Amino acid sequence: MQIVEITGIINETPNIKTIEFKSDLELKPGQFVMAWLPGIDEIPLAITKTGKVCAVTIDNVGEATEAFHKLEIGSQIGIKGPFGNGFDLSANDYLLIAGGTGLAALTRAAEELSQAGKNLRIAIGAGTAETHFFVERMKALGEVHLATDDGSVGHHGFITIVAEDLIDIKKPEMILACGPEPMMSAAHFIAEQYDIPIQCSLERYMKCGFGICGSCQCGKYTVCKDGPVFDGKQLAEMEDFGKWKRDSSGKPVWF
Ligand SMILES: Cc1cc2nc3c(=O)[nH]c(=O)nc-3n(C[C@H](O)[C@H](O)[C@H](O)COP(=O)(O)OP(=O)(O)OC[C@H]3O[C@@H](n4cnc5c(N)ncnc54)[C@H](O)[C@@H]3O)c2cc1C
Ligand code: FES
Repeated sequence: MQIVEITGIINETPNIKTIEFKSDLELKPGQFVMAWLPGIDEIPLAITKTGKVCAVTIDNVGEATEAFHKLEIGSQIGIKGPFGNGFDLSANDYLLIAGGTGLAALTRAAEELSQAGKNLRIAIGAGTAETHFFVERMKALGEVHLATDDGSVGHHGFITIVAEDLIDIKKPEMILACGPEPMMSAAHFIAEQYDIPIQCSLERYMKCGFGICGSCQCGKYTVCKDGPVFDGKQLAEMEDFGKWKRDSSGKPVWF
């Protein structure tokens, strides 16, 4: 565990903040950290910047994320990790499908793919125009396509419809997806229909972060240790993928 000091805070949207800190953290795109706030909780987060300045990008959805949003420059947090497996970035032509803060888990993959000169199209869905974040950052890396639930920017409706249109124009070699599980389940279905390899980064409730407590169990896998990135074959084996997940008490909850 490293204790780091917050050096910058960026308001990305009314509900999403990027928190910057200095650290020598090294991790593969798709791996995650457990971020600890003393007296509150420890939560899994993607790293959205590495190098001289590291960052996490957090949607305020509950007790812990709200507490992270209340921190100020100079506050300290604990960072443990890296955890998990990360994405396979060895193909040459990628379609990334992001829903909501799922884009955080895909950000560094997009950067590495772009730096390696790979073909990259990025389909990003959000509720409204004002809840989209990192759009300009992604436009610098590849071809960006947007969707919103209310039609305020881009396609009016699901981002998976946009993804299917993009596949019809040109079939990618690999799909990476992260977002709400029903969205990833739809992306997985499309990938199977078109016979395209897919990797999805799953977001399940986590406690230990290293395969002991079972709270992030998905089928026969634990998301923290076997994932969070799973390929199409593994996703097809998970009877609960896209259907239900466990809440903090371990009780199954339908999506
Ligand atoms: C590998 C991984 C990487 C993640 N990366 C990011 C990230 O970069 N940015 C970000 O904002 N969020 C990310 N998340 C989700 C984030 O960890 C949860 O939103 C957070 O733990 C919620 O804590 P809370 O106490 O604020 O909310 P709670 O009060 O615990 O829950 C509020 C709501 O969020 C849901 N929730 C709780 N835990 C998770 C979870 N692990 N995944 C999805 N939904 C959850 C609950 O079902 C509930 O509906 C990631 C999750 C995983 C597993
Ligand atoms: S969080 Fe404990 S097993 Fe995954």
